[in-house]
Amino acid sequence: MPTASFAQLPNAQPTADTIRKDILANPGFGRYFSDHMAHIRWTLDAGWHGHEVRPYGPLTLDPAAAVLHYGQEIFEGIKAYRHADGSVWTFRPEKNAERFRRSARRLALPELSDEDFIGSLKALLAHDQGWVPTPANEADECSLYLRPFMIASETFLGVRPSHEVDYYVIASPAAAYFKGGVEPVSIWLSANYKRAAAGGTGFAKCGGNYAASLAAQKEAEAHGCGQVAFLDAAENKWIEELGGMNLFFVFKDGRIVTPKLTGTILEGVTRDSVLTLASDAGLQPEERHISIDEWREGAASGEITEVFACGTAAVITPVGELVGEDERIRCQPSDNPVAKQIRRTLLDLQYGRAEDTHGWLTRLV
Ligand SMILES: Cc1ncc(COP(=O)(O)O)c(C=O)c1O
Repeated sequence: MPTASFAQLPNAQPTADTIRKDILANPGFGRYFSDHMAHIRWTLDAGWHGHEVRPYGPLTLDPAAAVLHYGQEIFEGIKAYRHADGSVWTFRPEKNAERFRRSARRLALPELSDEDFIGSLKALLAHDQGWVPTPANEADECSLYLRPFMIASETFLGVRPSHEVDYYVIASPAAAYFKGGVEPVSIWLSANYKRAAAGGTGFAKCGGNYAASLAAQKEAEAHGCGQVAFLDAAENKWIEELGGMNLFFVFKDGRIVTPKLTGTILEGVTRDSVLTLASDAGLQPEERHISIDEWREGAASGEITEVFACGTAAVITPVGELVGEDERIRCQPSDNPVAKQIRRTLLDLQYGRAEDTHGWLTRLV
């Protein structure tokens, strides 16, 4: 695929090497940003144009820019991994590009081609490859988190799709998402809030979905939980997903079940990869409805042996317990062998320690 041509506007005052090294030694998540950002502009008349990589820095937006009022915005999350030979790779970027177009259609934003999406990642990394941390060992899950996003930037307070749009990619070095690594997390079952409903934006990765999940996230934290699980809006019965991750249920007979895509769930790239890797490992993946009653009864009877969450940021994380207003649902104690095995397989692929038999890796630098 040819890389689109990006104008190069190098940062004249990049972060000093010593400071960057200190940041990379302890980056946390989403706190520090690399020296550049990629940008492409869209207007109704001219379409996509003005590809550039320019210094990272504040945007100038008119206070009447549509995104600030009506939330016409979408984003993606994808990582760059440094391999042992120093090369830098990303994982299934064409899936993120495809999802970005699905999100764009739902939010009435213009669609960006694979060429521009993947080209923008390559163009940014050509400048900022020094921001991709080098893992110290196989347990070190550091990466450069890439955040492509698109905003409605037209100065206009009318409620209609914006005639001017800007697309950017920024990059943030990241350590493991959950400090505890593969320690099981507690999940709050939201009784008061829904994440998405039929016909809404659940399948799109738009800021509004996350804004709407924050009150539930606050509730979760007040109950000592790190994430929220949402049930469907129509029947309040079917498991959908977490605020930022998809869910899997491992059955003792080798089935591994994830809620099927109904338009209200985000189609995770990790979810799709787990379905394939589970099948490679001899498990029987199923995409179907799974109810809160099935979770409760399966955990109690031992039919369900493990529950885990998955997503780009946190990879795969075992769910220790589901906490509700007046109950706690826990599987019988186990070392979560299936979650750990799939996690290891996925990480080995992403960091280039295993053969890429599915052709999932794209070299960025
Ligand atoms: C709501 C939601 N579900 C699921 C996921 C997992 O998706 P992916 O595996 O593509 O990161 C994410 C993270 O992007 C998310 O925000």
